[in-house]
Amino acid sequence: MAFTLGNLQLTSNLFLSPLAGYTNLPFRLTIREIGGVGLCTTDLVNARSLLERNRKAHKLIETCPADRPLAVQIFGTVPEEMRDAAVLLESLGIDSVDINMGCPVRKVCTIGGGSAMMTNHAATTHLVKMMVAAVKIPVTCKMRLGWDDDNLTAPDLARALADVGAAAIIVHGRTRQQGFSGTVNRAGIRAVVAAVKNVPVVGNGDITTPVAAKRMFEETGCAAISIGRGAFYNPWIFQHTRHYLATGELRPDPTFDERLAVMTRHLDRMVEVFGESVGCRMFRKIATQYSKCFGPSRVFNKRMVLLNTREQFDAIVADYRRWREQFLDADHRLLPQYEPRPLDEAPAIATPQGPNELW
Ligand SMILES: Cc1cc2nc3c(=O)[nH]c(=O)nc-3n(C[C@H](O)[C@H](O)[C@H](O)COP(=O)(O)O)c2cc1C
Repeated sequence: MAFTLGNLQLTSNLFLSPLAGYTNLPFRLTIREIGGVGLCTTDLVNARSLLERNRKAHKLIETCPADRPLAVQIFGTVPEEMRDAAVLLESLGIDSVDINMGCPVRKVCTIGGGSAMMTNHAATTHLVKMMVAAVKIPVTCKMRLGWDDDNLTAPDLARALADVGAAAIIVHGRTRQQGFSGTVNRAGIRAVVAAVKNVPVVGNGDITTPVAAKRMFEETGCAAISIGRGAFYNPWIFQHTRHYLATGELRPDPTFDERLAVMTRHLDRMVEVFGESVGCRMFRKIATQYSKCFGPSRVFNKRMVLLNTREQFDAIVADYRRWREQFLDADHRLLPQYEPRPLDEAPAIATPQGPNELW
């Protein structure tokens, strides 16, 4: 469904969530080529580093004309820096700027950024107001439900931020205390939807299938959804969800050959953007996400985690194709006992584990 975000017209209300270390230009282009996504967001970037023209920070916002519309997510606590970073992003042609208010990592929270912004409404509202006043592009806020179960501040904070001009509120339905554990709290997101009347609320968390996407819309009343890890397990999720929401029909899973073709293009883009050596090393953890849908893949993963060159990749894939044949029937389909687990039961992308203080 089409969606209006501030002054932006988006063709879809299905968004890609920021995943630090994953949602770089090659991945965004891969997702966009498959289709169905309305807005992609970069990994979080330090606002001050952007202003200081730090090379690594600017690499994180690298984009190209096919990578549109694009939101850049920034974090920081100094209102002037956040404002100036937003102005800089607008001048670079970025379509929207998102503020990270959900990051649980200690390095970000101890300086009052990320989730800690949810504990000081006055300061956070002031910061957002300054940013909104300085740019024409939409300013959005991505938050959790609150710091912990005793401090579910999202509804009040979201209302205050909408009142000072935030163009949308994106809510990951977990608290900071929860990290990534447990399941997403859709009732918590619904409470934010109920509290914010004048701007759209975007529901986020645990959407790994089109059915889960529909449930998020239905149970929260959100105007859009944002998908993170689910897009990594299945880059087709946006296209399939759009089809399912429009027709009620579930599209068949992509074939092994289709997955290989998309994975190969993804790697080619990594090599193009990061160079062969760095691109291949970064691709090690990505290849093992793709292989979750391949059926038996231990042999493939063991070699992919040592990937160094593009040529090696072709050799690994060719060898794996041959090895995998033992699990196929006469029609070249995986024998039922080797089918991978359904995506909503798939083991998660590595997330920070253990006590939050140690993240
Ligand atoms: C590896 C990883 C990196 C993440 N990086 C960011 C980030 O940079 N900014 C942010 O707002 N959220 C980040 N998140 C949170 C996701 O955007 C999202 O809110 C969360 O994973 C729940 O949605 P999902 O179940 O669809 O992944 C990250 C999550 C993971 C697993």
